Amino acid sequence: MLFRTSVIASAALALVATMVEAHSWADCVDWQFNDPSKPGWRASDGVCKGYARQYPVNSGVQFGGLDSYSPSRHYQQNKDDFIPCSDHIHGVEPGAIETRQNPISKAYGGRFGAMAKATAGQKMCVRWPAKNHAKPNEPNNPVWINMPKQILTKDPNQSGFSSANIAKLNYKNCNQIDGDTDHTPCGGCFDVPADLSTGTYVIQWRWMLNQDEYYTSCWDLQVTAKNGAPSTAGGLGNSTSVFADLAEDN
Ligand SMILES: *[C@@H]1O[C@H](CO)[C@@H](O)[C@H](O)[C@H]1NC(C)=O
Ligand SMILES: *[C@@H]1O[C@H](CO)[C@@H](O)[C@H](O)[C@H]1NC(C)=O
Repeated sequence: MLFRTSVIASAALALVATMVEAHSWADCVDWQFNDPSKPGWRASDGVCKGYARQYPVNSGVQFGGLDSYSPSRHYQQNKDDFIPCSDHIHGVEPGAIETRQNPISKAYGGRFGAMAKATAGQKMCVRWPAKNHAKPNEPNNPVWINMPKQILTKDPNQSGFSSANIAKLNYKNCNQIDGDTDHTPCGGCFDVPADLSTGTYVIQWRWMLNQDEYYTSCWDLQVTAKNGAPSTAGGLGNSTSVFADLAEDN
C-alpha cells in the first residue's frame, strides 16, 4: 500500500514536472484571421496556411500538445552551442528536426504542413501555445522574429539569426482560456521586409523564458518580390528565384 502510494505520488510529481517544464514553439507561421477586424488565435478565429519545418499536421494531437509528442516540437537551446534550429540531437531539450532540408521543400507537404508564402512587405501572423507562461506572474520576454534578408545556401548560426531581428512580439498576446493556461493560444504579427527579392528565406522564432533559456522554431518562407521593388537580396541575381532555389538543392 505504501509502495502503491509512493508510485502514485511520484507519478503525480512527474506530471507536475512535465507541466512546469513544458515550453513553447511556433505552432503556425502563417495564421490568417477569418475576420481581420476581429483578430484572434482560437481555432474559430482563423486558419493556418504555413508551418515550421517538418511540422506533423496529421498528429491528431490537440493544440499545444506537441511537446508530449515524439519527436517533441519543443526545443531548448544549449548555451554551449545555441544550435539555432533543432537537429533532434543537441539541446537541453532536443526537439524535432527543424534544420534546413535538401531540397528545402522536403520539410513540407504530405505528413508535414505546407511551406509559408508571402509577398515582400506583407503582414504575417504567427501563433504559439501559452504553455502556462502567459499568466500574470510569469516573465514576459518578447518572441524574436529573426529573418536574414539574404537568400542563403545554408542556415546561419545563432549570431547570424540574432543580428537579423525584424520584430519583437508580445508573448502574452493571448486569448486566455479560463482554467487552461497551458493550451491558451497566443500570437503576433510582423511585416515581411519590403525590399526582398523573390526567393526562399529562413525565419526563426526565438523566445527566452528565463535568462539564457531559449526556445526556437525555424521555417522557410517563399517570398515574391513586390512589383517594381528594387532587388537588394544577396547579389545572387535572378538565379535565386523560388524555383531555381528549390531546384538547385536537388
Ligand atoms: C557565426 O557565423 C558567422 C558568419 O558565418 C561567423 O563569422 C561567426 O564566427 C559564427 N559564430 C560562431 C559562434 O560560430
Ligand atoms: C533579371 O530579371 C530582370 C527582371 O525580370 C531582367 O531584366 C534581367 O535581365 C534579369 N537578369 C539576369 C541576369 O537574368
